[in-house]
Parts: sequence; structure tokens; C-alpha cells
Amino acid sequence: MEYLSDHVHLSDDGTAVVILDQTQLPNRTQYLTLRTPQDMFHAIQTLQVRGAPCIGICAAYDLYVLAQQIQPDTPAETFLAELQQQADYLASSRPTAVNLRWALNRMLDTAERCAGLPDRLEQLHRECITIHEEDIAMCRSIAAYGLSLIHDGDGILTHCNAGPLATSRYGTALGPLFLGKERGMQFHIFVDETRPLLQGARLTSYELSRGGMDVTLICDNMASLVMKNGWVQACFVGCDRVAANGDTANKIGTSGVAILAKHYGIPFYVLGPTSTIDLACATGEDIPIEQRDPAEIREKFYAEPMALPEVKCYNPAFDVTDHTLISGIVTEYGICRAPYTESLRAVFEKKRAGEPYGTPKQED
Ligand code: MRU
Repeated sequence: MEYLSDHVHLSDDGTAVVILDQTQLPNRTQYLTLRTPQDMFHAIQTLQVRGAPCIGICAAYDLYVLAQQIQPDTPAETFLAELQQQADYLASSRPTAVNLRWALNRMLDTAERCAGLPDRLEQLHRECITIHEEDIAMCRSIAAYGLSLIHDGDGILTHCNAGPLATSRYGTALGPLFLGKERGMQFHIFVDETRPLLQGARLTSYELSRGGMDVTLICDNMASLVMKNGWVQACFVGCDRVAANGDTANKIGTSGVAILAKHYGIPFYVLGPTSTIDLACATGEDIPIEQRDPAEIREKFYAEPMALPEVKCYNPAFDVTDHTLISGIVTEYGICRAPYTESLRAVFEKKRAGEPYGTPKQED
């Protein structure tokens, strides 16, 4: 199967970051070359590159490229201070997805270890490649655990885009569906269009139909009817930040889907790598929620504005799904169940101990 897995990478000479411009999909395949901090910031803020794991990977490449622009003979302390400044700037582009800060911190930790060494750039290069490769492996493992939760022929509902474009390969919420397809299974996938920026319509339905899946696009307000009709056996969504108690921030509208799923007795799963779990946030109340431009609601994607310019808009990019609505959180280490405060901590202990991801029971 063809995967869109090369949408963020270094240029051939390694001095720039190349991204597939996701704002142009599905109609145009356009790549952008990023060299300046301003272009990198703009790419993340305007969603040319998006999806929590993907912006982390991109930011790691960004920092490596920016490190090369610092004079080679710059003393270690100044080198570190400059990198820190660039990292803080990039991190301020989007506040909710913790993967962004997580990846930048990994690059800064590496820089701190090697700032005084002649091969500091090589080490930073290795670290950003490792971050990318680890994400591929984590998504593959999440896909296998997620697949163990569903059956051939099931109807699955998803919201926003948590596929290959939002990660590295396979994706998180879409990973089990791609893996199932590889194994000859077929699912009926309902994709919420995901107002206001239409990631479901523009990106998820594109990825799935290109992957040869049975995909049906619906408006966000149709999810209830589709569930009531008995067409959905599970909901799979991604995440931008998971708090220690399991409360989960994801694309605006996700919590509504979870409430509907509970009403209809449908399991609701969150799928994401441990790089999206933030144990420093005790609950969803601690997760910063990004507010975006009102124009995205009033006029974007319309031939002419659909509301008067003076109409007040409220445009949060994410909402928090209460942990009580979540049937399981699928990570690369397995499926966490309530109480999440314990199960998420247990996953981090495995991670700290360097344990391998393991395989879901049906694959043992
Ligand atoms: O604003 P976006 O498009 O970056 O929002 C993305 C989501 O909400 C995804 O579901 C989340 O980042 C998980 S991606 C694997």
C-alpha cells in the first residue's frame, strides 16, 4: 500500500526542511522549503504542517537546520542560548499539542550534551532522524494494538485527521485501519468533515480513499444519526495532549463525539504515542487551548463570507474529552484503561525502563 510518509523531511543537502503543504490538499500537491525561523513558525501556525506528532517531527528538523545557521566557531554557551531562543519561538506557534515542546526539548537536551564538541551538528542531525524513526515505530505499534479492538467489517467513526499526514507513517487513529487493510480486512469508515478547517474532509477522506478504503464523509452534525443507525462499532480519534488522569485534548468537536458514543453505547478510543501524554498536566483543566482567527469560521472556504464581519466568533481549536467518556487510550506500549492515573503512569515506567513495545494478545 502507498503511504504518504515523506511529507516532512530534510532537503537533499540537509540545510532546509521540506514539507508537503497540507493547506493545499486534496487539490494540489505542493512542497514548501523552510529555511528561516519565521517560515517555520508560519508553517506550523497556519497548519501547512499539522497533527501533534508531525509538528514535533518538523520542529526537530527545524531546530537542526537553524543550528547549522549559527557560526561554527560560536562558543558552546552562546550556541545553546541561541538554540534555546529559537526553540522557544517555534514552541509558541501552537500551544496545545505537547509533542511540539517535547521534540524541541529532546533537541535541546542533545545540544546541551554536545554543544562543546566538534561534531555537535552531527549529533543534532542524528537526534532529529531518531525522533522521526521512533514515531514511525510507535505508530506501527499503536496500529497493531488498535486493530486488536475491532473486527473485519466494523463501522468506525473518526474525527479530524490522525492519519499518516498527522504523524509519520500509518498514523494513530487511522493506523489500525491501514494495518487491517494490509491484512485483507475491510472497514466502513465514517469521517466527520471537522469544521471549521475541514481536516476530516480534506485530509482524512483523501488518505483513506487513496488507501483503497470504504470511506463515507459526513458533516459533523450527522454523527449522531450514523451512530443511531447502528453503523458505528467504535470511534477512533487522535490526541494533542493527554493529561495524567486521561482527560484528552483533541480537535474541537471530539468531546461531542465521545458524548454521543456514550449515549449509543459505542466504545470511544483515543490513540496516540507516549510523546502526546503529559503527566505534568494533572487534568484537562491544565491543558492550554489554542484560540484561532475568527475568519476561519466566518469566511474561510466560502465563496463569500457567511456572517457579517462584526459578528462575534468563538474559535477554540481543541476541546477536552473527559476521561470518563474514554473506553481506552491506545499507546505504543498497549491499551491503557481506567483508572488512567495508574495505567498511564505504568506505561511511563515501561518507557523509562526501555522496555520493548510488545504485541497485542491476538498477535502473541
Ligand atoms: O489543528 P490540527 O489539524 O493540528 O489538529 C490535529 C488533531 O486534532 C489530531 O487529531 C491530533 O493532532 C492527533 S494527530 C495524530
